[in-house]
Amino acid sequence: MLGKALMRQWTGDEVTGLGSSDADIRSPDQVDKAVSESNPEWIVLSAAYTDVDGCEINPTLASAVNTQGAVNVAKAASNCRANLLFVSTDYVFDGKKTVPYESVDPRNPINAYGKSKADAEEKILSLAPNACIVRTSWLFGPGGKCFPDTILKLAASRPEVEVVNDQHGCPTYTFDLADAIIKLCRAGAKGIVHCTNRGVCSWYEFASEIVREAGSKTLIRPTTSERFVRPAPRPKYSVLSDASLSKYGITMRNWQETLPDYLRERATV
Ligand SMILES: NC(=O)c1ccc[n+]([C@@H]2O[C@H](COP(=O)([O-])OP(=O)(O)OC[C@H]3O[C@@H](n4cnc5c(N)ncnc54)[C@H](OP(=O)(O)O)[C@@H]3O)[C@@H](O)[C@H]2O)c1
Repeated sequence: MLGKALMRQWTGDEVTGLGSSDADIRSPDQVDKAVSESNPEWIVLSAAYTDVDGCEINPTLASAVNTQGAVNVAKAASNCRANLLFVSTDYVFDGKKTVPYESVDPRNPINAYGKSKADAEEKILSLAPNACIVRTSWLFGPGGKCFPDTILKLAASRPEVEVVNDQHGCPTYTFDLADAIIKLCRAGAKGIVHCTNRGVCSWYEFASEIVREAGSKTLIRPTTSERFVRPAPRPKYSVLSDASLSKYGITMRNWQETLPDYLRERATV
């Protein structure tokens, strides 16, 4: 999802988009070959094993792709003196705070996906102290499996849908994140930066706004995480502060403002 948005938004520079068929990031040889062929100034590592429940069931694969794969890319970046921007997640936090997480807050992941990304962050920063780590959350956009797409598909066939109302975060539209990442690279950003759309909601509130904006008559009903059990525990509160992003003069839109754009784009894919 994010890779496609980056490729569409990034104009004015020479950009190469690579997928898993070009290089499996678990293979240092494949990564080195792909990186040395394009000899880039910047590498944006957006690839990851993003299935949170899949990571819980197969933590070895989560670690191989999300931690060791990221280390392989960081080493290749360092070998060709490229800058690295690594895309990370709000799930590096435990969700016990009640005010937004700052970029300096300690990591304490509560699931295998979060652990694999937190481990990657630590290893990247020790290998490449000038790398930029962009943590984002609740990503959605056209051309990928995401929460709004799931809700709209369910709403098309059901009169009611239950959605958890006890996890809070910041929905983030891939195209807005892509624009911010491009600005961060051009600004030579370093260190950990939090980047999400503005505004906080629960998944229930997010789903309610999605069906309202789409004109669906489906009723969204609130439920709890205890009633909707999944393999991986989720943080209850993973709102990311925008203080680290503001330092670069970047301001994000409110997440509600992005939904009409998302629905329009979704209709075209
Ligand atoms: N989705 C979210 O809600 C969310 C929230 C916070 C942070 N993030 C982070 O944001 C970034 C982008 O997420 P996304 O939702 O856009 O991801 P996505 O749609 O799931 O895409 C992940 C990409 O990674 C590639 N990939 C997976 N394993 C690979 C491997 N071993 N080698 C090379 N490529 C591999 C996949 O390629 P194939 O399709 O060919 O397998 C796919 O193109 C990720 O780093 C993710 O951790 C996502």
